[in-house]
Amino acid sequence: MKRRQFLASSAVAGAGCLIAPSLRLFGADAPSNKLNIALIGVWGRALAHYKAIENENVVALCDVNERRLGEASAKFPKAKHYVDWRKCLEQKDINAVICCTADHTHAFVANWAMNRGHHVYCEKPLANSVEEARVVRANFLKNRNKIATQCGTQRHEYENFNRVRELIRDGVIGELQQVSAWGNRQLRRPGYLPASGAPPSDFHYDLWIGPSAFHPYNPDYFSGGAGMNCLQWNMYWDFGTGQVGDMGSHTMDIAWNAIDAGLPLTAQAAGEPWNPEVSPVALEMHFEHPANDWRPPIQVSWYQGGVMPASPAPWVDLNKIGHGALFEGSKGALVSEFNARLIIPSGNGADMTYYKPRAKEALIPPMGNFQQEWIKACKGNLKTSCDFEYSGNMIEQMMLGLVAYRVGKKLSYDGATGRVTDVLEANEFLKRTYRPGWTLDG
Ligand SMILES: NC(=O)c1ccc[n+]([C@@H]2O[C@H](COP(=O)([O-])OP(=O)(O)OC[C@H]3O[C@@H](n4cnc5c(N)ncnc54)[C@H](O)[C@@H]3O)[C@@H](O)[C@H]2O)c1
Repeated sequence: MKRRQFLASSAVAGAGCLIAPSLRLFGADAPSNKLNIALIGVWGRALAHYKAIENENVVALCDVNERRLGEASAKFPKAKHYVDWRKCLEQKDINAVICCTADHTHAFVANWAMNRGHHVYCEKPLANSVEEARVVRANFLKNRNKIATQCGTQRHEYENFNRVRELIRDGVIGELQQVSAWGNRQLRRPGYLPASGAPPSDFHYDLWIGPSAFHPYNPDYFSGGAGMNCLQWNMYWDFGTGQVGDMGSHTMDIAWNAIDAGLPLTAQAAGEPWNPEVSPVALEMHFEHPANDWRPPIQVSWYQGGVMPASPAPWVDLNKIGHGALFEGSKGALVSEFNARLIIPSGNGADMTYYKPRAKEALIPPMGNFQQEWIKACKGNLKTSCDFEYSGNMIEQMMLGLVAYRVGKKLSYDGATGRVTDVLEANEFLKRTYRPGWTLDG
């Protein structure tokens, strides 16, 4: 996959692009050249986007909680208000959408927005099933010459991501053989919460449930602080995919950025017993990826909830790194967390004479602010680091791993068709079932 090669496109003046040809004369950064943004989900994680968009036109605010709409209007007083994102997307002057809703509606909002020609920034995880990942990616690829997309894995802006990629590509650990990423967050939930009271009158709970199976209201689903409330609902299968979609999106990104992988050939997983209501705490997932033009076939793994890869050296305690990645090659290992890395040459021949550090001019340039990269891309060359092809492939792999976990067997996967080719019963778990009236690709 050559995600760093921008698909050259001059067709930025499509239906989804604000920039009228005359405005482009004044350049993408001209003050008059503003996006018309719909912010869907306006509180919690959305607060982290306020600064990035304060100089754009925020024309629509949508939240199932009317109280949050009231609070957000203090910052964006000109925006129209909605409680149903489907109605919001009918507003004609929108050309860019930021989605900060609960995980189980991300792929819906992203698809509907892209189908209307809008640029999309979608919080992670991009999808909650293999099918959702595939539909989002397909809609992006169909529209990539006129829209910019970004999945909200904002740690990607850390320059360490570039350094790790360069070191691996330049052979600091020899030939790459295996990559593991892990996360230690452990949220144990017994099962869906019991019914408790009625939702407040200004909270549209049925719209919050949206496409998922109905579960009775319980205020505990909404008792977390701003930007942390996702931890109150993301362990339940109908609302999220636990740490696989949550920190998995961020942490696998350290690995994904460096390995130029597409879809895996196989998936295999093991963990605590399958629970039909909540996602597992302890889990490991393994994927075989084919060779590409610079490396041999590799295994990619994800570990969570206290299950860890073996350390490359007894004196390196990987447990000290809450969220990290381990690259193993023929001449050593590289351990990385989000912001820093450690190189461990090992074995005979690991004298590092084979490795030539890059000249400063050859370093991958810093991407700058992650949200601004998307805003600039919407107004200009449409190029982003975590577009829905890159992030779509990554989350499809992770969701496939959850299917392997569910059936308890190693799966062979045909990424071209999106089908499991040997354990056929696994195919029914590639997609979620939606409530009547909700369309994934509307
Ligand atoms: N990138 C990051 O570092 C990061 C950090 C925290 C959360 N997140 C992601 O952001 C998302 C939101 O997380 P949160 O903790 O803010 O959750 P939250 O439960 O606080 O929801 C955020 C806001 O979205 C609204 N909302 C939920 N569903 C909606 C819908 N269908 N339509 C309109 N509004 C809706 C809520 O009422 C709330 O105001 C999650 O998907 C989470 O994974 C990302």
